[in-house]
Amino acid sequence: MEAKTSKVSIVGAGAVGATLAYAGLMRGFARTVALYDINKAKVEAEALDLAQGVQFMPEATVLGSDDVSVVEGSDVVVITAGAKQQPGQSRMDLAGATIGLMDKVIPPLIEAAPNAIYILVTNPVDVVTYAALKKSGMDPARMFGSGTVLDSSRLRHQIAAECDVAIGNVHAYVAGEHGDTEVPLWSSATIGGLPLSEWKGRDGEVVMTDEVRERIHHDVMRSAYTIIEGKGATNYAIGAAGARIVEAVMGDQRRVLPVSTLIDYPGVGEVCMSLPAVVGRNGVEHQVEVPVSATERAALEASARSIRETAQRFGA
Ligand code: LAC
Repeated sequence: MEAKTSKVSIVGAGAVGATLAYAGLMRGFARTVALYDINKAKVEAEALDLAQGVQFMPEATVLGSDDVSVVEGSDVVVITAGAKQQPGQSRMDLAGATIGLMDKVIPPLIEAAPNAIYILVTNPVDVVTYAALKKSGMDPARMFGSGTVLDSSRLRHQIAAECDVAIGNVHAYVAGEHGDTEVPLWSSATIGGLPLSEWKGRDGEVVMTDEVRERIHHDVMRSAYTIIEGKGATNYAIGAAGARIVEAVMGDQRRVLPVSTLIDYPGVGEVCMSLPAVVGRNGVEHQVEVPVSATERAALEASARSIRETAQRFGA
């Protein structure tokens, strides 16, 4: 009997999907990586280009096809297919197009790979994750979105630069919507175990003043708009973030990641939004009750309302 190899499939061979595949292959996140896209020429070309680099990566087989059967036997399926955010467009502006796409894409995928863990990356990821869950009836632990994993990386990058410290020593989350209503959880942020609010610069002064926090919040929330203005799309950071989430599942790493999961939000109702959760082989294992300030709690409720209203408006 042929031993089953680890397999990750990526739906959508656009900039995000191809970059996520590349990031995952460089980190050896699976023995087989399959790309699926309706554009036959594109998906075959991306797969061939990736395969020809495998000599420089951990051993892997790379497949590419416009036939959904290419995802059969996947441990994880990552969905990146969807409309591209245009300059000045918000992610929520894409909701109508992408919810309709999920209605088409999800059923055949689950038929081909019924036992996979599903990770949504397509924007608006919170609304899309909710729509995919409702369409599929999947266990919410096994179908979740990339959420604010990328936003949290952007926040940590900015904090590390401001505080002149290694990014690996910054622990801070963005929660809520992956989008305009996202919420930096300043009150629980730390550097090397020290509360961020107590971090002092070389001049002995506290670094994270209200003005600095407001600037960083703005810059993090506007990052995608800025990058899209300059190069037309974002792909590297989201590709790396997606690969990290896949690794947490494939390696049963039980990493704490702010992924977008189904929550019955008090006073709002059912919504998919990001709060820190333990991610492992079974998907979202459990949420982590990170303490939040009254201001953060109010902002999270507003974010939950915004996501739910958009989902309802487009019939998700
Ligand atoms: C971004 C896209 C992935 O924030 O929404 O770069």
